Amino acid sequence: MVIGLLILTSIPTVTGVAQAISGQKTQKEREKDAKRMKKFHIDISCEVQSTRIGEIHGKRLVLRDDRVWLGPHEALNPCSEGYVAESFYIEYPDNERVPVEIGLVTQVRDDPPLLNWIYVDKDTMELKYGNKSVSIAHHVGPWDWTEDEKGITFDGKERFTAVEDPKTHRWQIYYDMDSDGLSRYVPNSRRKMSVRLERTLIPGV
Ligand SMILES: *[C@@H]1O[C@H](CO)[C@@H](O)[C@H](O)[C@H]1NC(C)=O
Repeated sequence: MVIGLLILTSIPTVTGVAQAISGQKTQKEREKDAKRMKKFHIDISCEVQSTRIGEIHGKRLVLRDDRVWLGPHEALNPCSEGYVAESFYIEYPDNERVPVEIGLVTQVRDDPPLLNWIYVDKDTMELKYGNKSVSIAHHVGPWDWTEDEKGITFDGKERFTAVEDPKTHRWQIYYDMDSDGLSRYVPNSRRKMSVRLERTLIPGV
């Protein structure tokens, strides 16, 4: 259970490591943490009317070259297009962030297992993944879920956008923080589509 150890020693629990140590977590808080830490794949949902919707709807997110991409439908590891994200929520350990922000963790490789944070690059608005030293200067949260616990939110909103790389025709995920179609970050000529990121719970973990 190397992964379990990694979590326990390097990342505090969702409602606060201090509370956990002082034994003040209520049963309810512990249950809430356990629910947040259930692992899920991230699948794309796109309701835009487009002839190219088949390239996007239902695709599963994979990780490659520090960035987050659309991979095959219902992809599982090992996957030739990248490491299929296996994610969960946990508090981002940074005393400078008040209130504490919930981060989005993902396993990024199997052997040896490694966990990274998914974050929004503050200079490019790309979703990226990296360890704490890489991510801390960027937008690391707050991540959350919609009321039905299906949709993933960032800062309470669902402004995720898939952007096509014109050379490879691969779609990459960005966050449209200004809600203006990423006008300051992505050339107008690139194909973009607003997408939802949805949790698909991984059975048995
Ligand atoms: C964090 O990731 C960067 C880039 O991959 C790496 O250079 C650095 O050694 C990592 N730091 C830790 C503490 O693992």
